[in-house]
Amino acid sequence: MKKVVLPAYNKNIVRALRSLRVEECGLPQPSEDEVLIKVHAAPCNPSDIAFLMGGYNIVKSLPTIPGFEGSGIVVEAGEGAEDLIDRKVSFFIQEENCGSWSEYVISHKKKVVVLNEKMDMDQAACFAINPFTARGLLDIAVLRENHAVIQNAAGGQVAAFVRQMAGDMGIEVIDIVRKQESLERLKKEGAKHVLLENDSRFEEKLKELVHKLNARLAFDAVGGALAGQIFSAMPLDAELVSYGGLSTKHISGVDSMDLIFNDKIISGFNLPEWREQIDDDFFEEISVEMQSLFISEKYQTKIQGSIGFDDIASGLTDYLRNMSEGKMLVKAKVKS
Ligand SMILES: NC(=O)c1ccc[n+]([C@@H]2O[C@H](COP(=O)([O-])OP(=O)(O)OC[C@H]3O[C@@H](n4cnc5c(N)ncnc54)[C@H](OP(=O)(O)O)[C@@H]3O)[C@@H](O)[C@H]2O)c1
Repeated sequence: MKKVVLPAYNKNIVRALRSLRVEECGLPQPSEDEVLIKVHAAPCNPSDIAFLMGGYNIVKSLPTIPGFEGSGIVVEAGEGAEDLIDRKVSFFIQEENCGSWSEYVISHKKKVVVLNEKMDMDQAACFAINPFTARGLLDIAVLRENHAVIQNAAGGQVAAFVRQMAGDMGIEVIDIVRKQESLERLKKEGAKHVLLENDSRFEEKLKELVHKLNARLAFDAVGGALAGQIFSAMPLDAELVSYGGLSTKHISGVDSMDLIFNDKIISGFNLPEWREQIDDDFFEEISVEMQSLFISEKYQTKIQGSIGFDDIASGLTDYLRNMSEGKMLVKAKVKS
């Protein structure tokens, strides 16, 4: 089989991408409770970019195969997982010897989401992480009985799912983007409250909206000074949930008084931990419900294109230039 190999982590993402090479190796064999998946497609997510740079919480021995997520068909199974043979699956794997930018991948049976046969396999490639992340984040809003949330990196795919699901739940969303074109696109798509983070009146406009909507919960994917500005704009008893560090900067500008006297908190969200916390039946219920929304095309991940293993460096450079354009799918071969 063919696989994409990262020889060394590199803080310079251009160099990390250029260092990727395609290698051939034998097929791995599934052990007990494991499946061998013939990969259809795998996205490049911000976590993959952080991983290539050696800046993610998962660090594997080198050389390694990147890619944490994908879709495919189970072609072989170890003892205890035979019922999954021939099933379409989405998967989310972070184990040492696996990566989804490969023709085949081994996964524990518990790490796969078994799919409805009608699921589109490109959409399925981006199903195991982002829609569930949006759902997990909004569970916090439901638990806290918040009727308005703030989110940054709002042109991205997690944010798009948050916006859509929040709309269905009657929760208002204040969206923050960094580019004028993202602001215009979101408004065209029907987003009600969109702010540009580098607007000269950004903080003032944010405070006005936060006050008007009584927004006491924020989902932060950026960190840095922006996270601090959002935190400061929120009233007593507010929570900022950090779930991404796109700026690679530490959260800054937090007033200790807000933490000590105003009951405001900063917390973190990580999908694998959320998955551990909920029971399997509830996860299955959410999965089935969301798949039917994908099949009816109410929910869709925006995909900007597909690239073959041989074009990975240039294709992912395009994704990095405009992440809001949608996911770039990595495939062994792209049909012309
Ligand atoms: N904690 C978890 O369990 C979990 C799970 C899933 C995702 N995440 C995190 O969620 C975040 C979003 O992921 P995604 O898949 O939705 O990403 P995506 O679809 O690839 O989009 C990324 C978005 O972030 C914006 N962005 C990138 N760098 C930025 C910066 N420095 N400042 C402000 N905006 C920036 C991009 O805007 P441009 O178009 O302007 O580039 C784009 O709109 C990532 O940090 C990811 O790691 C976390």
